[in-house]
Amino acid sequence: MQSIVEHDLGTPQRFSEKTVTLTIDGREVTVPEGTSVMRAAALSDVKIPKLCATDQLEAFGSCRLCLVQIEGMKGLPASCTTPAAQGMKVTTQNKQIADIRRGVMELYISDHPLDCLTCPANGHCELQDMAGVVGLREVRYGYEGANHLSAEKDTSNPYFTFDASKCIVCSRCVRACDEQQGTFALTIQGRGFDSTVSASQNVSFMDSECVSCGACVQACPTATLSEKTLIAKGQAEHSVVTTCAYCGVGCSFRAEMQGEEVVRMVPNKDGHANHGHSCVKGRFAIGYATHSDRIVKPMIRSKISDPWREVSWEEAIGYAASELKRIQAKYGRDSIGGITSSRCTNEETYLVQKLVRAGFGNNNVDTCARVCHSPTGYGLKNTIGESAGTQNFDSVMHADVIFVIGANPTDGHPVFASQMKRRLRQGAKLIVADPRRIDLVRTPHIAAEQHLKLRPGTNVALINSLAHVVVTEGLVKEDFVRERCEMPSFEKWRNFVAQEKNSPEAMEAVTGVPAANVRAAARLYATAGNGAIYYGLGVTEHSQGSTMVMGIANLAMATGNVGREGVGINPLRGQNNVQGSCDMGSFPHEFPGYRHVSDDSVRKMFEDAWGLKLLSEPGLRIPNMFEAALDGEFKALYIEGEDIAQSDPNTQHVTAALTSIECIIVQDLFLNESAKFAHVFLPGSSFLEKDGTFTNAERRISRVRKVMQPKSGYADWEITQLLSNAIGFPMNYSHPSEIMDEIARLTPTFTGVSFARIDELGSIQWPCNAAHPDGTPTMHVGEFVRGKGKFLVTEYVPTSEKVNARYPLILTTGRILSQYNVGAQTRRTENNRWHDEDRLEIHPHDAEERGINEGDWVGIASRAGDTVLRARVTERVQPGVVYTTFHFPESGANVITTENSDWATNCPEYKVTAVQATRVSQPSEWQKRFREFTDEQESLLKSADVFVAK
Ligand code: SF4
Ligand code: SF4
Ligand code: SF4
Ligand code: FES
Repeated sequence: MQSIVEHDLGTPQRFSEKTVTLTIDGREVTVPEGTSVMRAAALSDVKIPKLCATDQLEAFGSCRLCLVQIEGMKGLPASCTTPAAQGMKVTTQNKQIADIRRGVMELYISDHPLDCLTCPANGHCELQDMAGVVGLREVRYGYEGANHLSAEKDTSNPYFTFDASKCIVCSRCVRACDEQQGTFALTIQGRGFDSTVSASQNVSFMDSECVSCGACVQACPTATLSEKTLIAKGQAEHSVVTTCAYCGVGCSFRAEMQGEEVVRMVPNKDGHANHGHSCVKGRFAIGYATHSDRIVKPMIRSKISDPWREVSWEEAIGYAASELKRIQAKYGRDSIGGITSSRCTNEETYLVQKLVRAGFGNNNVDTCARVCHSPTGYGLKNTIGESAGTQNFDSVMHADVIFVIGANPTDGHPVFASQMKRRLRQGAKLIVADPRRIDLVRTPHIAAEQHLKLRPGTNVALINSLAHVVVTEGLVKEDFVRERCEMPSFEKWRNFVAQEKNSPEAMEAVTGVPAANVRAAARLYATAGNGAIYYGLGVTEHSQGSTMVMGIANLAMATGNVGREGVGINPLRGQNNVQGSCDMGSFPHEFPGYRHVSDDSVRKMFEDAWGLKLLSEPGLRIPNMFEAALDGEFKALYIEGEDIAQSDPNTQHVTAALTSIECIIVQDLFLNESAKFAHVFLPGSSFLEKDGTFTNAERRISRVRKVMQPKSGYADWEITQLLSNAIGFPMNYSHPSEIMDEIARLTPTFTGVSFARIDELGSIQWPCNAAHPDGTPTMHVGEFVRGKGKFLVTEYVPTSEKVNARYPLILTTGRILSQYNVGAQTRRTENNRWHDEDRLEIHPHDAEERGINEGDWVGIASRAGDTVLRARVTERVQPGVVYTTFHFPESGANVITTENSDWATNCPEYKVTAVQATRVSQPSEWQKRFREFTDEQESLLKSADVFVAK
């Protein structure tokens, strides 16, 4: 539990090996060169009054409250903008300074409402504090003259208000939006007394470019920008540091609490992944945890056409266990399995795979990473030796060229995108390879040097042609390759990519990218200094997903861009704990730490620890489970925190498989799409209700801390434990820290990890062991994890999903900032104000050919199925390509996607589906059936009194 007041040192930290020593009010202090006098003073416990300065933003020097006297300097300089210098002698308090400060404050207060007692900022308002600090006792100017006291409030944003009457025009909000967020949505309009803060061109916040990250709210020293929850509930009395449960950035937050109620989420300045920044989801979209749809009582039913029946935990667990045992006795050991989720903590996913391997006695466990980053695991393991990204996020600040492939960071990984944009504004060059014109291609003060607008499905052709340029134009870092890589594999690869068929000119017809652009991009990446690759699901979710990951690794190794800061191969993991769920052994073929189940010595270690024999053959992957279910061989499934009925491809195939399973046990917050096919519902807990850890895209393990009791009575790890005990495999953990201790004992890369150590260090990037006791920010330094880096030949094989006269367009999918994945959480928040339906983006040319206008209903048909979405006509997509998000179940985006998948990992080919689009006037047949089924399932829930109390 922490205090709710964070210390602010006034100006940002400076990093310099050179230091300067100065004297402030008689105290000697030594600071890195470039540090401001204000920060130096704060570090020596001398508080200088300030209003426009904060340590999250560069100093601006506008309020004049922080002035000081410096021996030998004229006038009274602002301490926030004056760098500390060797031998400087600073006086922060004397009569002259005090009088000026009081005068400044008097002017501010004369144009500020005196409603302190009822103001939401009362008690943490910096203006109020400073009035006290400078000893302001009277305001001589009165309130009759011109003032801003009746300025109108902007309440358009669902999460915060802008009360202009309280604004002191310190510009902290403007700078937060520019420097921290990089959206440049705010300006100061007018001059002098008439200056006001304005969103965009004087429109409401909701109508401006604002993306509701909240940085301006956090920066505001007054109540001008305030969270609506703070206004409604009043101030918190304690705070708890925890980790966001949305995306793979893994932002650290202080949950500010009143008892068991969250007042607001404030990004943690000490957060190693986010440094005090956040996006709209983590900061504001937590209302789902108490949404009226949230189920908090266990339920069972024998058939999916039966009404749900609320039962005790004992009965629910007993029924689930007896069904699992009955089915195994009847259909055999391998007829049951489990699915873990990247939404759950490491400790929870570890327990699910343990339950399956030890309790079910088979290896039929898989995770939703199957459908996103499984090719990353495969591709990186085989080339560089470890199934994870090579850097920390801060590494991007040392990159000279940033190559973004198949990722949309401003929507998918917004806080990291802000950091990346900061580096780009400092001058790093940008290359984007994406079929769509993502925002990053052109955003304020940033323009990509190259946007390689390739056709969906041609990634491998593109990476081979980039590599062709590197090897044929003498851009290979020969020393690095000779020293660090397997030379025979390199020679083989070099000969392969050097072939004329892989040249940009030859591949232009395949990729659609002009050869000159490919050549320019390859030269830039290979020669700019530090080249860093960031990639996302636009790389992995293809029939050649694993091949492309290997192609990326080949390119990075050939150009020497691995093993130091500023470079690397960086998969931007989608969900909060994708990295963790893979690390924890959620795949059917691997124990925790990516060790194959057929490895006798590893298996023995787990057998000894768990006290029973384990299987040496890999179990079923999710798609195999569906096949086996349709064949009548797979009959029971335990799903924790994952919604396969919405997220997996070819919905009709998935739902047919689910319908043929005799017992589905769903552990979740809501009656999600999969739960509509379930027989047992075990109410799960939100991230606010449990202890544990998440591992973000940087391999950073961070604590999730319980801020309230589980609303259903149990945290998810306890539910898995109850189930395991009921089926006869005893588990007896009393706290998740004990589960982590077991993980550390059994996993070489986690040996040094424990809750106590994470608490001590703030977070830990694995590997953390005797060799790396504080964790590993950059991997493969000096040597690859596998010893020598291995080049692999990446032959381009076109997908079998081809356009033809019947299906002439390619559909590709992605996500949007305000919604998250299947939307189960964000759809139950005000984030719907930004995005309340999935739309089909279509190029004006394709739209015109089909008579489709903006907002029209469009039927989209593929070989797998058809659905209907409204059109958004836009040049963001290229002709021949259409695009949609998949956040709303009724959109049926996955009714259209096919079962094509990555050759190595079965990761679905979400990014390439041949479709036709036509103007229609009514929902598709599937959508009508979906509506009927949903209505029926909701009615079967109606009589149960199982929802969270408001
Ligand atoms: S919420 Fe974020 S994007 Fe919006 S104005 Fe504030 S800082 Fe800018
Ligand atoms: S809104 Fe707040 S941060 Fe922005 S200028 Fe006004 S007082 Fe300063
Ligand atoms: S960037 Fe990701 S982790 Fe950070 S607040 Fe947003 S959703 Fe949460
Ligand atoms: S805090 Fe230094 S000028 Fe405002």
